[in-house]
Amino acid sequence: MDGAEHLSQRRWVTGEFTLKRIAALEPRLQQIVDERVDALLAGPRPADLVETLALPVPSLAICELLGVPYRDHGFFQERTNTMLRRTAARAEQGAAMLELNAYLDELLAHKQREPGDDLLTRLLDRTGDRKMSAGFGVLLLVAGHETTANMISLGTMTLLENPQSLAALRDDPTKTPGAVEEMLRYFTIGEYAVVRVAVEDTEIGGTTIRAGEGVIALSNTANRDPDAFDDPDLFDVTRDARAHLGFGYGSRSCLGQNPARAELRIVFDTLLRRIPGLRLAQPVDKLSFKEEGVVYRLHELPVAW
Ligand code: HEM
Repeated sequence: MDGAEHLSQRRWVTGEFTLKRIAALEPRLQQIVDERVDALLAGPRPADLVETLALPVPSLAICELLGVPYRDHGFFQERTNTMLRRTAARAEQGAAMLELNAYLDELLAHKQREPGDDLLTRLLDRTGDRKMSAGFGVLLLVAGHETTANMISLGTMTLLENPQSLAALRDDPTKTPGAVEEMLRYFTIGEYAVVRVAVEDTEIGGTTIRAGEGVIALSNTANRDPDAFDDPDLFDVTRDARAHLGFGYGSRSCLGQNPARAELRIVFDTLLRRIPGLRLAQPVDKLSFKEEGVVYRLHELPVAW
């Protein structure tokens, strides 16, 4: 979908993700994070940060935004995972998408009878189209939770192995938003997210891309471009990384970047404030990274305090 057609559909939900809307959601996000930190502190040590905090926080947040019951998170997390796994068979991915679609369609049918104060209810109101709204719901559910979850675990791991960065944020939490931008640049977890098909012959950097040819724009390479970022392989929370392409670029850039930024900032501030002794319970070279997904991530992150 291109141009005006894409824009008009995108506009159905852009109002839901404005800074003002997300600022209003922040107290609830803080509560979600605090509850997960309580659970982490009450549990055994070492604990897996992915399971106890990194996955549940964005899942709870997206459920809150969309109006999806969190009790179903096991179901949609599993389907989302299949859809984002590059090694999954096409048929398996198709089946996962159909199941998610059917789930959202049923949920929307319920919202038609009993409207809620949530994005899905308003989307259904705006479009008057349950099938379309269900498809949109799948997109938001898939795009909205594993991505942020991975940034929480990778970001925590990186902070914990960089004592200087950790100290900088602990001394001055106003630096956290800048640190979040640096994490988004440094990891560029959606490294294969920007895929396009040329609709007409186009020349880029002296290479002609013919109409119909596919292009994968590797934003991770752009985010490590020394002409754009000094010493790009260095993780430096004090650099100005705001020009990164971790959320894509232009008319298709990430719709959920405001909630994602708010969640990440609140998570890191809360972790540093409430668990000052947080440390990695396993050296980084022993951790298992997920390379087979569309989104880069850690399988688990054992921590202690
Ligand atoms: C740190 C977390 C996140 C990262 C790194 C991320 C990354 C991206 C990237 C790179 C794109 C651009 C894809 C392209 O150019 O085709 C994108 C698009 C998108 N993202 Fe995110 N995302 C994150 C969180 C979220 C959240 C929380 C939501 C929803 C609440 C979301 C919803 C979307 C949607 C709907 C699009 C498609 C926009 C369009 O095509 O107009 N994302 N995201």
